[in-house]
Amino acid sequence: MKNGLIVSKLKNGTVIDHIPAGRALAVLKVLGIKGNEGNRVALVMNVESKKMQRKDIVKIDGRSITEKEAQLITLIAPTATINIVKDYEVIEKRKLDIPEKVEGLLKCPNPSCITNNDIEAKSRFIKESKSPLILKCDYCETYITEEDVLRQILS
Ligand code: CTP
Ligand code: ZN
Repeated sequence: MKNGLIVSKLKNGTVIDHIPAGRALAVLKVLGIKGNEGNRVALVMNVESKKMQRKDIVKIDGRSITEKEAQLITLIAPTATINIVKDYEVIEKRKLDIPEKVEGLLKCPNPSCITNNDIEAKSRFIKESKSPLILKCDYCETYITEEDVLRQILS
């Protein structure tokens, strides 16, 4: 966005850039941002990008993100880069990869899966394919796709 910044630079905070167009709201959902937390938040949707046709950007002033949030972001926005800004400079740029194992973040859609019936059991999915995203429940072998993950996160 060299010609025409839509929103101003952050002083301190997190910029999630290169989000596939249309997924910014899902990213906010993952971060639990409803708008009443007090942080300044900028949502930029469907802007041109050099690396992809169109992208979304989420800027959050004065807030960092946890490892768990970063993992969930990769699942719904695999192209995203997470930029940590301090004193107006990007001090860290994280480009995460979908992990081999996704634990305790997603629910298995199979109602008789042990992870839905034993309160002690934590869900665990194994990455079967990255693009298209396919995850397999490590307990009952039910497959879930990127659409299933998005639906879960947005529900
Ligand atoms: N940014 C910001 N405030 C800052 C610094 C950067 O909001 N003080 C934003 C930029 O607008 C951009 C993102 O953070 O959306 C990444 O910044 P930068 O690394 O400077 O941009 P690029 O080099 O274009 O990033 P990339 O190579 O990841 O495309
Ligand atoms: Zn299962």
